[in-house]
Amino acid sequence: MGNTRIINWTKLERGVSLELELLGASMDTVHLFDTTLRDGEQSPGFSMNREEKLRLARKLESLGVDVIEAGFPVASAGELASVRAVAAEIRNTRVAALARARREDVEAALTALEPAAKPRLHVFLATSDLHLAAKLRISRREALDAISRWVRYGREHCPEVEFSAEDASRSDIRFLLDAMETAAEAGATILNIPDTVGFSTPEEYGAIFHRVRNHLGRNESIILSAHCHNDLGLAVANSLAAVRAGARQVECTINGIGERAGNASLEEIAVALAVRQSFFGVRTNIRLEQIYSASRMLSEITGVSVPPNKAVVGSNAFAHEAGIHQDGILKNPLTYEIIRPEAVGVPARRLVLGKHSGRNALRTRIEELGCALTADELAQCYRAAMALADAAKEVTDRDLLTFAHQARRGRLEANAPAHADATASAGSLQ
Ligand code: KIV
Ligand code: ZN
Repeated sequence: MGNTRIINWTKLERGVSLELELLGASMDTVHLFDTTLRDGEQSPGFSMNREEKLRLARKLESLGVDVIEAGFPVASAGELASVRAVAAEIRNTRVAALARARREDVEAALTALEPAAKPRLHVFLATSDLHLAAKLRISRREALDAISRWVRYGREHCPEVEFSAEDASRSDIRFLLDAMETAAEAGATILNIPDTVGFSTPEEYGAIFHRVRNHLGRNESIILSAHCHNDLGLAVANSLAAVRAGARQVECTINGIGERAGNASLEEIAVALAVRQSFFGVRTNIRLEQIYSASRMLSEITGVSVPPNKAVVGSNAFAHEAGIHQDGILKNPLTYEIIRPEAVGVPARRLVLGKHSGRNALRTRIEELGCALTADELAQCYRAAMALADAAKEVTDRDLLTFAHQARRGRLEANAPAHADATASAGSLQ
């Protein structure tokens, strides 16, 4: 990593922000590949239509992710159209489309990527004997042939190809090495090593990266990538172990949504790499101050709230209940707070809305919280907020988010509620 300049977060005084320019431009960058719109979206309760995907894709671009995986185009005509719409609109961030190693998938993904400014074809095939025998019913030789054929074909039609060895962490390591070498020879420059079923531990997962890196040699044009699921609650720990072992791309999702127990959570990885930068010695391109609004936008779109105790973006993540903790925080926030709420965009202040507050203030605050409302929805929120302000004197960010969420879903009563929480449907916004 050469001439790395490291600042120890724990030595930073409060008030010095997390701004990355302070943290040494010469560090290695870990690219964050966001798969909220693909691995996240395919899990129950999280499906998104084209407009919703587009809205989130714009937010992901502004958040600073390096790659947006927009979907799995062969799944349906609608999915292909959604991925194509994202590819047509997003100009600065790479847009990836997923394909199994077979013709119809690769053709669908290439069609969806046609309008992309920076397209990436993402081809995958399982490499564990279990998947080869029980699911695909092909031999190892046939698997290598399919990898070689469809990665090569992809490279003829797309400037950048990623190959993923599904169930890599449960694959025979020698065969996994063969598969990686085959994909690299066929032209893949990003080699992803998924822990598809969330089975690995940090030590094991890191060791796989060392083995693959040693096998391929110091080829600067190849980026190793981590992709972890959270079945044992280890997705973020495993991803960070991969970074320590040389991974320079991490695949993750907003709020950690994804198949079964979810994927590694983007906000936890980005903040861990920033807060413990002296330990990891790498940086990311994420604009940390947009993390909270991205998380809220996803909750708003899907209607699925974040658990209160979720790291970084849960409503309790910065709440201090115990008297001893409150006392410590008042004396010096560093006693119990390793992340400044403002650094990740968590609203630290309460908006006091009184009779004299204007619609503009309300709209600005709602936008800051990550919600874009129509004029009509905004008017409904305004009426509700004013009525609550009359009754309760102040309207908190939490109340505003509840109103915005309900207005978008057509569930905000024209008459103002006695209290925002009283009208919130079970399990709505934190
Ligand atoms: O978990 C997994 O193996 C995947 C691949 C398709 C990358 O999502
Ligand atoms: Zn996955």
